Amino acid sequence: MEAFEAIKTRRSVKKYEARPVEREKLERVLEAGLWAPSGQNLQPVRYVVIEGRELLDDLQAKLVAGARKLMKLRPVLGLFAPQMRGEKGKRLARSIRDNMLYEAPALVLVGADPSASATWEKDTTLAAQNMMLAAHAEGLGTCYIGWTLLANRLGRSDRERFGIPPDFAVHDGVLVGYPADRRGAPPRRAVDEVTTWVGA
Ligand SMILES: Cc1cc2nc3c(=O)[nH]c(=O)nc-3n(C[C@H](O)[C@H](O)[C@H](O)COP(=O)(O)O)c2cc1C
Repeated sequence: MEAFEAIKTRRSVKKYEARPVEREKLERVLEAGLWAPSGQNLQPVRYVVIEGRELLDDLQAKLVAGARKLMKLRPVLGLFAPQMRGEKGKRLARSIRDNMLYEAPALVLVGADPSASATWEKDTTLAAQNMMLAAHAEGLGTCYIGWTLLANRLGRSDRERFGIPPDFAVHDGVLVGYPADRRGAPPRRAVDEVTTWVGA
């Protein structure tokens, strides 16, 4: 698949087949993440791949509960986080759904030891994007799940249960599986609308 075609046809998949993703395919997706750029080429990116319905459902329940609890604090959070105020904040709260992880067969937590690099957060997100494009080219579906950031709030025994090492800060979460439906592309802004050209 040509690069621009992959970029334009990738979609966030919100319905998955139950069948697991073959280990070799998952490994190729993870490898694609490792070919993303990283500050000073320090390569701080690490993965935790969570599979199995029971574990994923447990994690989902904890993330949903954490997200709902956090959203109850909106009036306070809104004081220093403008995106939590008004209609935007309400929309975010409404976006929390019980099946937050869409019954995907695998969730890749992308993170790092924050002491490993000053740019670790950017590095992990760039890796996540590479993974989503590579997965799409392999015929797999993905969805970035922002709420996985709340995995950082899990207690020690939960972290152990979900295989998250003590020095691993979660930054991104990417669901991976075989897509069970295909959505049309949500519209994008035009280049002209978002670009300031200077000096040309
Ligand atoms: C930072 C970030 C957080 C996101 N979090 C979620 C999420 O928690 N749940 C979800 O269903 N989609 C999530 N998405 C996916 C977006 O909703 C999706 O990318 C957007 O609607 C555009 O659709 P497309 O990816 O199919 O082009 C997230 C995307 C980003 C970049």
